[in-house]
Amino acid sequence: MTKKEVRAARQTTINAQPRIHQRVGEIQAYGTVSYLLPLELEEPVRLEMTEQLNLLLADSMTLRDLYKKSHWQVAGPTFYQLHLLFDKHYDEQVEIVDEIAERIQLLGGISLAMAADVAETTRIERPPRGREEVPVQISRLLDAHQIIIGHCRKLARRASELGDDGTNDLVISDVLRANELQVWFLSEHLVDVPLVHAVEPRARKVG
Ligand SMILES: [Fe+2]
Repeated sequence: MTKKEVRAARQTTINAQPRIHQRVGEIQAYGTVSYLLPLELEEPVRLEMTEQLNLLLADSMTLRDLYKKSHWQVAGPTFYQLHLLFDKHYDEQVEIVDEIAERIQLLGGISLAMAADVAETTRIERPPRGREEVPVQISRLLDAHQIIIGHCRKLARRASELGDDGTNDLVISDVLRANELQVWFLSEHLVDVPLVHAVEPRARKVG
């Protein structure tokens, strides 16, 4: 049998063997949107929104992973409380990531997914592999939230201008609000108040 005949026989033979190691070309290129969607949103609008949502997605995936890193590596007297808080915020970011990614897909675009692509895209500073002190962990998380919140405000306004109300609603109701709440829970941990012995605020050293 020639190679061609073997290939033809394989295509027509039904058997129980798994067809592993398969590769063919992509069915849609990254950075494009499918145009045959009955969404009443023009292709240029969906292109701009999916591009912006992918930035938000990359930053949210990075923040999600920064929470897990902090959950694992936290040290010190507040270990238990922060270990649990970081994991709660991680779980909430997992939900947010899924909502953003699925919004990109439903707009006809393609969501970033893999860590290497996320690392190339995110605006959040890469932390070291090693452990850091709690105030540094929390500061890094707050800086990441600030980038995401700033982007949310701009993106929500732009989505509204372009008539993409679904993206506006997602960004405000699900992403912005959750990030604002997480900022509150984190930033209160950086307020330097006495734990046991109360001190007159005026008598305390500032700085
Ligand atoms: Fe855990």
